[in-house]
Amino acid sequence: MSKLWGGRFTKKTDQLVEEYTASIMFDKELAEEDIQGSMAHVTMLGKCGILPLEDVEKIKDGLLKVQSIIRRGEMEFSIGDEDIHMNIEKALIDEVGPVGGKLHTGRSRNDQVATDMHLYLRKRVVEFVGLLNKLQEALIEQAKANLDTIVPGYTHLQRAQPIVFAHHLMAYVSMFQRDIERMQDSYKRINVLPLGAGALAGTTFPIDRHFVAQQLGFDGVYENSLDAVSDRDFIIEFLSNASMIMMHLSRLSEEMVLWSSTEFRFVELDDAFCTGSSIMPQKKNPDVPELVRGKTGRVYGNLFGLLTVLKSLPLAYNKDMQEDKEGMFDTVRTLQGALQLFAPMVSTMKVNKDRMRQAVNQDFSNATDIADYLVNKGLPFRQAHEVIGKTVLYCIQNQKFLLDLELEEFHQFSKLFEQDIYAVLQPEQVVNARNVYGGTATNQVGEAIGRAEAVKEQTNAWFEQFANASK
Ligand code: ARG
Repeated sequence: MSKLWGGRFTKKTDQLVEEYTASIMFDKELAEEDIQGSMAHVTMLGKCGILPLEDVEKIKDGLLKVQSIIRRGEMEFSIGDEDIHMNIEKALIDEVGPVGGKLHTGRSRNDQVATDMHLYLRKRVVEFVGLLNKLQEALIEQAKANLDTIVPGYTHLQRAQPIVFAHHLMAYVSMFQRDIERMQDSYKRINVLPLGAGALAGTTFPIDRHFVAQQLGFDGVYENSLDAVSDRDFIIEFLSNASMIMMHLSRLSEEMVLWSSTEFRFVELDDAFCTGSSIMPQKKNPDVPELVRGKTGRVYGNLFGLLTVLKSLPLAYNKDMQEDKEGMFDTVRTLQGALQLFAPMVSTMKVNKDRMRQAVNQDFSNATDIADYLVNKGLPFRQAHEVIGKTVLYCIQNQKFLLDLELEEFHQFSKLFEQDIYAVLQPEQVVNARNVYGGTATNQVGEAIGRAEAVKEQTNAWFEQFANASK
């Protein structure tokens, strides 16, 4: 079979070169977007009088036929035709004859492939906002069920101050909110049309780029034709945003792995999200969070891969840029998998409230509160810190916790202690004393949940609107 660009050549392409340079094995994933872009392009060629309308109609019919062949899974993609663009053009010519060869008028694969990627990624960005929103919903529901669940809060992975478990979960809701906003913000840089840039310099045909943009739902067109075909920032930005999401999921994964260990026993993951051991019958392994944690590595790798590909590339298109695809597709799949699994895993996670409470009762995470108690009685904080440090040391040496001490024992360290210290030290009191905006007091967390639910509704409205616009 001859090449679409074969005219200048006298020899056949080396078989290994053909295999090495082809991208059809992976860029066939862009088939829908490629046809969508071609439909808009050819409509514009007709409107601008560049192609006769009867040719435009034949090409459009042919493209729709090719589309249905692909949708039915009956397309025979060929490495000889290199990539999705030429495979589709070849199939079109097979369907409608030589008139199909007019489709590529005023266009290059350079602006064509960039257009496909923009169309592809804007759909994915909307999808990810939707999936993040679902995960937030699952976290918020768990938070609502755990407003009164007190658990140790940690710094340095050492028990620090007690918090309500809902507060911990809502921290992730905030983190995923930033991820949602980053995705939403990136949409405006993705939703710009490169087509019309030609190979690099524009085209001699009197095309109407804005009309193509309008048909495809783009907000505008690239200002500069060189930039239009050289730009992969929008993909790097996506990979960076995806890396951040994976980093957040990985932190939550790490906590789930810890919490579900026998040492913690704070939560139990549903059987449906765990696997067993081939040798140790007692094992129930948290494979899903472990694998999400592990797959974070490949998503970072894809980001660094593309950053490195682009580094030092002269303008405009270079074949190196074909390397932008596999990492992007891999990241999309990895992130889809992680987010789809996480929401139900969070919803079905059993929270062991008693065990969490028991942990709080057996630690010194209320120590800051007695320091504050002495401060309220007039002692400078630094001295209060010293007094409580000694009190804690006494407890450790005598195998006691602060609530086990008699008032006389407290008096060895300061005469300022009175009977009301016992109320101050109760975990509920410790938590609810942090009644500051954004703090862990139950009423504050309740209000934070209310605010997060309102934001979640807004995100949902954005999703509904953009899900249609990005199709
Ligand atoms: N398969 C190519 C890619 O993905 C399409 C663009 C080819 N352009 C070219 N001038 N060879 O990058």
